[in-house]
Amino acid sequence: NEIRRLDYRPPDWLVPQIGLRFTLGDEHTRVQTKLLVARNPAGDQSETLRLNGDEITPAGVWIDGEVTDAWRMDGPDLLIDLPGDRHEIGIETKLNPAANTKLMGLYASNGMLCTQCEAEGFRRITFFPDRPDVLSKYRVHMEGDKALFPVLLSNGNRVASGELEGGRHWAEWEDPFPKPCYLFALVAGDLVANNDRFTTMSGREVELNIYVRDGDVPKTGHAMQALKDSMAWDERVYGREYDLDLFNIVAVSDFNMGAMENKGLNIFNTRYILADAETATDADFDNVAGVVAHEYFHNWSGNRVTCRDWFQLSLKEGFTVFRDQGFSADHGSAAVKRIEDVKMLRAAQFPEDQGPLAHPVRPDSYIEISNFYTATIYNKGAELIRMFHTVLGAEKFRAGTDLYFERHDGEAATCDDFVKALEDASGVDLSAFKVWYSQAGTPKVAARLEQDGERATLHLTQAVAPTPGQPVKQPMPIPLKTALLAADGSGEIVGERLILLDKAEDQVRIEGVNEPAILSINRGFSAPILLDVQRGAGELEQLAANDTDPFARYEAIQEMMLRVLIAGAEGKNVDPEPVVQAVRNTLQSNALDAWFKGEAILPPSEGIIGDRMMDVDPDAIHVARDALRETLGRELEQELADAQAGGAAGIDLSPNGKGARRLRSVALGLIAAGDPARGAALAKAQFDAADNMTDRQGAMTTLVSLDAPERAEALQAFYHRFKDDALVLDKWFGLQAAAQRSDGVEQVKALLEHPDFTLQNPNRFRAVVGSFGVNQWVFHRATGEGYRLMADMIITVDALNPQVAARQVPVLGRWKRFEPKRAALMRAELERILAAPKLSKDTFEQVSKSLA
Ligand code: ARG
Ligand code: ZN
Repeated sequence: NEIRRLDYRPPDWLVPQIGLRFTLGDEHTRVQTKLLVARNPAGDQSETLRLNGDEITPAGVWIDGEVTDAWRMDGPDLLIDLPGDRHEIGIETKLNPAANTKLMGLYASNGMLCTQCEAEGFRRITFFPDRPDVLSKYRVHMEGDKALFPVLLSNGNRVASGELEGGRHWAEWEDPFPKPCYLFALVAGDLVANNDRFTTMSGREVELNIYVRDGDVPKTGHAMQALKDSMAWDERVYGREYDLDLFNIVAVSDFNMGAMENKGLNIFNTRYILADAETATDADFDNVAGVVAHEYFHNWSGNRVTCRDWFQLSLKEGFTVFRDQGFSADHGSAAVKRIEDVKMLRAAQFPEDQGPLAHPVRPDSYIEISNFYTATIYNKGAELIRMFHTVLGAEKFRAGTDLYFERHDGEAATCDDFVKALEDASGVDLSAFKVWYSQAGTPKVAARLEQDGERATLHLTQAVAPTPGQPVKQPMPIPLKTALLAADGSGEIVGERLILLDKAEDQVRIEGVNEPAILSINRGFSAPILLDVQRGAGELEQLAANDTDPFARYEAIQEMMLRVLIAGAEGKNVDPEPVVQAVRNTLQSNALDAWFKGEAILPPSEGIIGDRMMDVDPDAIHVARDALRETLGRELEQELADAQAGGAAGIDLSPNGKGARRLRSVALGLIAAGDPARGAALAKAQFDAADNMTDRQGAMTTLVSLDAPERAEALQAFYHRFKDDALVLDKWFGLQAAAQRSDGVEQVKALLEHPDFTLQNPNRFRAVVGSFGVNQWVFHRATGEGYRLMADMIITVDALNPQVAARQVPVLGRWKRFEPKRAALMRAELERILAAPKLSKDTFEQVSKSLA
């Protein structure tokens, strides 16, 4: 049951056209499908047409208009023997959207009907060759009760509509662009739109709609602005123009992932559309804009040019993440955006690369493709595209993407096609970089600067640790933005240049260095690697104070903290005073902005510390981190108090406004670490005075971990004010599940018993169980109670929604990295999950690979 990349064969049959008729109902929906099938000259000349299905049965089959029984089932698939080259196949299926708890295919959410087809959901609606290299023109007819479903939407343009007897109505949609079935979408519901317009660069007038439930329209302004900004940005930066007269977005509350780029009809998780200052944090606003941009950009990188097979997923996802990162950097603080992206990569992708589920950006095999919507495909994939951009420069990169879009428009392409287009347009040989697609694991680079008179030599080595199925690794090409800074802090001696390390070991001579220099390397995080620089005393301090690259400066401060934290967790005593001094300098700097300060002074998470250690002991890490936080809080009492009180009031979404709020809440956390009683009082004051969700949530983040009366007061006030707003209630659940408390496991159990908790809604489930899983100290309680609870949740939710269940497996799957007692307890829970009856393919794959 494993699918292998090298087994790819072109489809035997193509489907140039498809017609779908939906007779809609919450519990009974009838789907009448007409497929125009044509033998593919490039395929095997098989007489059997295989149409994929999943939990559906045919209620009738027709060949060229004649009802037939010349079909058979092969497991979930429908097989029809077809002599000749072209036929019209008719199929009828019956669906129960209300019973579809997997949220794949057609399902019901709050009385509305909607679809999710990527990757393999279309086969839950009708029988079809469900693979991305079969592109069809769609015509969709939908009819339903007008009161229940006043709005009827599908891809493309609405070409006709009308009224029927008995309070029913219908609409017909046509999408002029051939597309794979994973981009099909349908929505029917009682929705209201925020309606707007955009004029494209060639003068096309596009109608824009964001459909939400009545009452939520006032929360769609930010998403609408982001959509218009995205359309303009893609024209300016990539020369890409929108291609239909209509662009619709629909927000739904029950959604497995973030959002979906269905052609002309993007469907979003409400959490990436709805935002206002009362209910959304600054991070929420940024996520809304980033995801709106991401889905919009897919119209070219994903839809106009799609993927040949699912092993090429990063072709659209890595590239589109790189594009949305560029958009966000251009619309906010580029320095902080880079820090956030690297933080995300380290928190989510590096652990993947170090664990049993490590896979290359272009995987070689899978059991369930849903398991491969990972940080490796998305975020490491984006880093790979960023390296191309770095090596080629902006101009040649753009020439390459222009050629890629032109050459492959309307096609299903591969990662190799993408690289070839970059090479052909730029004249640069990128073949060495392809190992980044095929080889899993994070390269570890060691660097040392040697100075001898005027001669400076940079010594570099690299190694990649073995990953499952790849015991022996090749050297990778690693672009390192490098500069040399004066050891006295007076600036750059050698300005930034790009050094390409493409061997296991290399030396680079740097000329013109006639004073003591400090190495600043992997500036801007130019390569997604682990870096170990041999440094003399005081060097990191100097970089933390003076590095001319903001990312490198952030990195130096974080690295100083990590050294203290790792030593502390290993039971060694290291003087924290240089860290205190670096944080003080940062806080007092006039050159740095508040947003950068907030990010830079926040000590690395317990998870990040653990990723740098072996035989991880979460208790020791927690104690060490708390000790450093306490020291910072005590010694920088005044500076932190100023930072917490600073910044203009009001809801200003500029980088300055966001920065002031970020710094305020980071400072608050450190103040509370130094003096819990004072912290609780300050947090409660911040909570009560807050006129925005950022300050409110920032205060709560501190309060939930304290044992002060203010904690319960704030939690209760928050609950009563926001209990009817699902997205804010998710925060209330999530904050508590993320609290750092010795009774954390009991708190999570209580949240699971709360009347507002439900396993059916993925956002609510992730708010509690997802936050708990990454709350290292609490989840890894030495008794194993956290592991047991997680395994119970995985087993329970797997029966409802396998995708949501499988997502939680990796936190248990990392057992090998923990100290032996915990490792054994984690392993035992994985074995218990594996023994559960009727385990889904999704969870089976993640658990069995974690135990291998
Ligand atoms: N293509 C979507 C995006 O990146 C993700 C959809 C994945 N959905 C899933 N059920 N695996 O925006
Ligand atoms: Zn995407």
